[in-house]
Amino acid sequence: MPFVFKRKKFSADIDKEAKIRPVGAWKNYSKVQRITPAECKNPVGNKIIDVEGISLSYDSKPVVNNLSFQVNQGDYLCIVGENGSGKTTLLDALLGLKKPDCGKIDLLDKLKRNDIGFLPQHTEVQRDFPATVFEIVMSGCIGRQNKGPFFSKNDRNTAFTNMEKLGITSLSSRSYRELSGGQQQRVLLARALCSATRVLMLDEPVTGLDPKAASDMYSLVYDINKKEGITIIMISHDISSVLKYASHVLSLDKSKYFFGTVENFTQYRDKAASEKQTGEDTLYGNSDAYKYGGTDIN
Ligand SMILES: Nc1ncnc2c1ncn2[C@@H]1O[C@H](COP(=O)(O)OP(=O)(O)OP(=O)(O)O)[C@@H](O)[C@H]1O
Ligand SMILES: [Mg+2]
Repeated sequence: MPFVFKRKKFSADIDKEAKIRPVGAWKNYSKVQRITPAECKNPVGNKIIDVEGISLSYDSKPVVNNLSFQVNQGDYLCIVGENGSGKTTLLDALLGLKKPDCGKIDLLDKLKRNDIGFLPQHTEVQRDFPATVFEIVMSGCIGRQNKGPFFSKNDRNTAFTNMEKLGITSLSSRSYRELSGGQQQRVLLARALCSATRVLMLDEPVTGLDPKAASDMYSLVYDINKKEGITIIMISHDISSVLKYASHVLSLDKSKYFFGTVENFTQYRDKAASEKQTGEDTLYGNSDAYKYGGTDIN
């Protein structure tokens, strides 16, 4: 018998999450320079990640069940869902750190795990890390090293380019543990960018940041996506920003998974909200996620 959770408070939860950050925090969005796909460093459009029917568990306790979705180069995919729904576990699987119980994850179009930069979910332990900003940013180049244990001139240039991109060059010799939360997140993003030649994965990158720092972080990530064609896969609880920046959404609500474009997701949410008022339950039938552009789990 398949593993199925029944849970129907989808729209109420999302509305609650949307109130966490003020809408005004995203006002810098309009300042982001838009460029044509042809100007991107990475050609956009090719399918690069194909996830087919994967299930993930810890000690036989299911976390993700029969999930399928695809990512194209240049997409901006946001993964949403309540605490414990398996978002971080899914990123671990995409990074090759967790093996699916069944199903498969294919990296296509010559994408290698070394092409993926990762900004992990923040922990208090990380905040106290005893190293300079430059050392931390440069450690992002480790996966790129081909010869010997030493960093190359190329690695140093990559580290400096990314520090410049994030406006933290002046902090390069400062101790990481002395920085503010917003500065620390920029350092970790610069580090992730050192290995993100094609894909950048971010696990709740704005947690603990004030609205201005969070807004800056979203603008930076959006810029990286649009200007360089770097594919973004971001876990977020911030639905306002998801709707504003993402091209696609994967919702790991425990009763039903949704995968589709952000426009499809808006329709899906609207329908969920109206069904909540009328008491209908059609959204949780097996075919509706497809109807709204998504992928059904059950
Ligand atoms: N290393 C682990 N060993 C055993 N269980 C784990 C482990 N990591 C996570 N889990 C469990 O797997 C489930 C999914 O955890 P995960 O961290 O993927 O959730 P999440 O969606 O990222 O949540 P959050 O929004 O709180 O970050 C949770 O029930 C969690 O307790
Ligand atoms: Mg998590």
